[in-house]
Amino acid sequence: MYDVNLIRKDFPVLEKVIYLDNGATTQTPKPAVDAMLDFYYNYTANYGRGAHHLSIAATNAYEDARDSVASFLNAPSEKMILTKNTTDSINMVANGFGFESGDHIITSVVEHHSNIVPWLRQKEKGVSVSVVDIDSEGMIDPKNIEAEITEQTKLVAVSHISNVFGSVQDIKTIIQIAHKSNVPVLIDGAQSAGHTPVDLKELDCDYFAAAGHKGLLGPQGTGVLYLKNPETIKPTSLGGGTTSDADRTCFVTKEPPESFEAGTPNLPGVIGLGASVEYLKKIGVANVEKHEVALAKEAAKRLSEIDGVSIYGPKERAGLVAFNVKDLEPHTVAMRLDKYDNICVRSGFHCAMPSQKFLGIKGSSRASFALYNTPDEVDALIEGVKRIAKES
Ligand SMILES: Cc1ncc(COP(=O)(O)O)c(C=O)c1O
Repeated sequence: MYDVNLIRKDFPVLEKVIYLDNGATTQTPKPAVDAMLDFYYNYTANYGRGAHHLSIAATNAYEDARDSVASFLNAPSEKMILTKNTTDSINMVANGFGFESGDHIITSVVEHHSNIVPWLRQKEKGVSVSVVDIDSEGMIDPKNIEAEITEQTKLVAVSHISNVFGSVQDIKTIIQIAHKSNVPVLIDGAQSAGHTPVDLKELDCDYFAAAGHKGLLGPQGTGVLYLKNPETIKPTSLGGGTTSDADRTCFVTKEPPESFEAGTPNLPGVIGLGASVEYLKKIGVANVEKHEVALAKEAAKRLSEIDGVSIYGPKERAGLVAFNVKDLEPHTVAMRLDKYDNICVRSGFHCAMPSQKFLGIKGSSRASFALYNTPDEVDALIEGVKRIAKES
């Protein structure tokens, strides 16, 4: 039985506020905070750098966390790189892939800046980038990707779930289409990992980037990058932790995943992430998805019934809904919800300007749900937006 009240006890801040900005970052459950405190109070030490027992304990805890995340996404641990965030993960692929002049990359207009800017930047090297259109609900038609593939195409990079529309892309078909032409695919899973079941073995994408601090409920400063074939990417940062031998003229780099994690890693953050993923496993991501999608569906339906409110995205949406109230600035709506209703929502362009320019809107407010939100909180949102619409 899904007991949201029991879940909420693990997130004390929820007693004080209605938090509907989970697309940006989620709250972290107590067991994960406790795991981080345990690291700080009892075994702070560096990773793999010492023969002493504290370093061994810290290293083991870090690797246990990697195992937790890898098994949660059904991938081998040695292919799961621990990063700072989704953006870091995508940039590791963009900068480590070795794109050359004449190469071609395909992405889409629905992407978050993190999954479009690193590709556009490759133009500096003479790489061409096709940015395929979406429909008015934020969906990519896989045929549009297929139509862009040429002999020069080296990568397709698309998001699983849009952070603006809540649209869930048909990534299985996109991956199959690209693979038919031997083109690898990167999936931006920032809004999907922890919100919907992700099985990387079954999905068969080549790269999967996600945040630790969103659906996976981990602390900020954590992210993941799955590399199906790690040898296709060169590490973009080398030094301590990545080197197995060196002299004054040359060096030997370790095997993945260590080769991709230069310098002292975010040990407390990763240990917290491991604990939050174990927490999520107990609740079950399919249960979480059902809960979040039901809340978003209800919120979208009721928002769309308010005079002067526009909503975006498909009917079958993931757990978020973006909206505008008459011609009010999205920040004005968010500030009023904050001030008068104690509700936190995101507002602005959501770091996804191309999609909003494509649709001709100047940003939106967004309510994004997590496993701990309740129908009462949807009621509060609706009442707040109704009042704002009436006043304007
Ligand atoms: C679809 C999508 N991609 C990438 C990002 C960037 O994530 P991060 O903050 O972990 O770098 C976000 C953040 O909201 C996102 O929604």
